[in-house]
Amino acid sequence: MQIVSPPEEINFAHNKQLLNRYRFIEYETLRILAAWLPATANMDWKLAMGRLLWEDAQHVQYLYQRLREIQTPAFRPPGDDALEHLMDEALHAPTAVDMLAGLFRVIKPALVDTYRWHREQTFANPDAPTLYAFKHILIDEETHLDWAEGALADHAPGEWENYIAELLGAAGGVSGREERTEKPAQPACRKPFECPVDAARDSRFSLVNRDAGKRVTATDHATQRLRDFESYSQEMLAAETVALIIHLSPDMPWAFTYDSARHCYDETRHCKLGIEWLAHHGLDYTDVPQNTLIFTWRSQYDAATQYCLLTMGNETHAFPHRHEQMAAYAETGDRLSAQFVSYDMADERQHVAFGHKWLPALMAQHGIDRPVDEFIKETVALWEQEYMSGALPIHETEAPEKL
Ligand SMILES: [Fe+2]
Ligand SMILES: [Fe+2]
Repeated sequence: MQIVSPPEEINFAHNKQLLNRYRFIEYETLRILAAWLPATANMDWKLAMGRLLWEDAQHVQYLYQRLREIQTPAFRPPGDDALEHLMDEALHAPTAVDMLAGLFRVIKPALVDTYRWHREQTFANPDAPTLYAFKHILIDEETHLDWAEGALADHAPGEWENYIAELLGAAGGVSGREERTEKPAQPACRKPFECPVDAARDSRFSLVNRDAGKRVTATDHATQRLRDFESYSQEMLAAETVALIIHLSPDMPWAFTYDSARHCYDETRHCKLGIEWLAHHGLDYTDVPQNTLIFTWRSQYDAATQYCLLTMGNETHAFPHRHEQMAAYAETGDRLSAQFVSYDMADERQHVAFGHKWLPALMAQHGIDRPVDEFIKETVALWEQEYMSGALPIHETEAPEKL
């Protein structure tokens, strides 16, 4: 009997173990980006982070779809304390740029190398679905590395990046197969992550709370249109709230995080849509004051209430005004505005659907034991009273939720 010894290095059991490691790294990266989104001041990075975290969510989804074919449960920890420690620590960067450098200049390049190695070492036909996932993941990951090369070009590698590299070494690299180095000591620059209660903005912006939350009431169409797109250019505030909800809800099912990553990304796209519209009209969005009090106000409530305020308050109630504007755009032949708002409304319909889908589980997760309808009704009343009035009160007695 002939026994053939295959050249492929990765066998079935090892394959599962590796896929679990990648899934874990992609998922934790998404969560770290979400946690840091409100705390990151640089608006260009914030706009990119929405896309980056959604693309990482796509990678988790690819890996999850493959893992559920070969193991139950599909989601499981990687079973390597050193790898878990690396991703736990990557959150506690001293600054946003260090956090990004740790993820995009240390962890992701190693991940990309490992995907490429894995691609060559698995059984090509039997494991073809994994190869299909890698092919698509790699397209994104290569653009992530390019993005970081440009965005972080002015940031010299420092103590934090070295620490992350040492932690990766202690985990035997992404694959866990490299010789493990000694676990490094925490550097002095390490800063325990604090849940953001304010939305950071870079120095180009002024922060003014004038008109925060108020319905646009201008009677002339041109002013109303301008106010609407100025308001789009501030939708980073919605992205930041969704990001905070992701951070505060680590035990929600994967499908929630997946939908929320898309929700967060959409809001960064809506923000960009406002920026682009203003630019098309010769206006600079950094001249529009950012009403960051909206984020601060929402973040004083638990994550389920924040989600309800956003999806059942803002998003559910946006449609009548949007429809009115669409009619006016049709009348004036304003194709650009009409197109932008059409895409926005398509996204917002999804966001309202996400709200209905996930609120019951999110309420349970955050210890709210009341009928869902009653909770929505009361929260929308709170939204009317505190947001629509423009008051946005910060209640001293309500402590922000801590993990
Ligand atoms: Fe939006
Ligand atoms: Fe939305």
